[in-house]
Amino acid sequence: MSGEAGRAILIEGIEKAFGKTRILKGVCLNLREGEFLSLVGPSGCGKTTLLRIIAGLESADAGSVRIGGKDVTRLRAADRDIAMVFQNYALYPHLSVAQNLAVPLVMRRLSSLERVPLLRHLVPGHAQRRSAINAQVQQAAEMLRLGHLLHRRPAELSGGQRQRVALGRALVRQPSAFLMDEPLSNLDAELRAGTRREIVELHRRAGVTTIYVTHDQVEAMTMSDRVAVMMEGELLQLGTPREVYENPADLRVAGFLGSPRINTLPVCSAPDGIRLGALHLPLQAEVAPGAELTLGLRPEALHLAAEGLAVQIEHLEFLGAEVLLHARLAAPDARLTARLPIAVAAQLQRGDAVHLRADWSAALLFGADGARIASSASELCLNA
Ligand SMILES: Nc1ncnc2c1ncn2[C@@H]1O[C@H](COP(=O)(O)OP(=O)(O)O)[C@@H](O)[C@H]1O
Ligand SMILES: [Mg+2]
Repeated sequence: MSGEAGRAILIEGIEKAFGKTRILKGVCLNLREGEFLSLVGPSGCGKTTLLRIIAGLESADAGSVRIGGKDVTRLRAADRDIAMVFQNYALYPHLSVAQNLAVPLVMRRLSSLERVPLLRHLVPGHAQRRSAINAQVQQAAEMLRLGHLLHRRPAELSGGQRQRVALGRALVRQPSAFLMDEPLSNLDAELRAGTRREIVELHRRAGVTTIYVTHDQVEAMTMSDRVAVMMEGELLQLGTPREVYENPADLRVAGFLGSPRINTLPVCSAPDGIRLGALHLPLQAEVAPGAELTLGLRPEALHLAAEGLAVQIEHLEFLGAEVLLHARLAAPDARLTARLPIAVAAQLQRGDAVHLRADWSAALLFGADGARIASSASELCLNA
């Protein structure tokens, strides 16, 4: 807030078990100073547990957390200089917005005597401390555009405004890192989109290193510098939104990111390429012949054409500018979804037999264990 950037965060080898169940399996994560990183993954994969360990609200069985070069693994939450925003923002209902924003500062800076209305004026230096707090509250309120709401109580605010007060209360302390755990999941779709932009703008202005937890891949992709994809207690991939989308390291990452979901087709490797039904695709990657592989094709990599994969249309979804075509491929038996411009799909009907041409250069190949076979898209060069 004062122009001071957030600190780098380095998380190494975090292990955590609840009873006999291993929840976090050696999680490593590094954030640059001022970076906005989304931690994304399905519900139950361990995101909240990891965030609580970083915040110091939960202890790890092994591993370390460093913030700004300092090992904070054994520090109490209060000594870590981290602010956390939860899904259920608990504001004090009887306090005004201004008072809610001031709470963390009042608790830290004013003695218990100074918090008593009639006695506070007797404590030396109280007026200066109080006016410093007021100035910081004002600054946070301006940053979050809450200035006109400072005298309201939480009951007189919309859901989005309440969440902004909760963000402001975390921000006012000028923490060196922000941890947000699904802060938008209680808001309706429209408010979510608006508040999403506000959080991004807030991050741009304040520059505080932020870990943003979400199970919503759209939030993760649109808000972040980098995205960390987590599943079953393991970090599967860390990269820019584009990298993890275009170059997923694992079939689970490819399946989790992207809506509609990536198409997957069972294929078999032959000595000089791969076989997809009757199609033969030369492949410039080392794969043992006879291996059962999975070919991934994003819906935008399929186009309507005069020849190609013969499919029958099962369902059409009109989305305005685009149409999602859901179709069945006979051999191998598989469902395919294509994302088509409205102009080319306007005449299509359920039951029609059509051909889909695949953009093979955008195809992704995965081994039986789910790992990507070619490590970059350019290495996997398929021609049909
Ligand atoms: N205090 C706890 N005691 C026992 N199990 C827990 C506890 N907290 C979380 N878990 C379990 O750990 C797993 C991961 O939970 P969580 O970190 O909340 O996942 P996420 O935030 O990704 O949904 C879940 O299976 C959950 O039931
Ligand atoms: Mg959670």
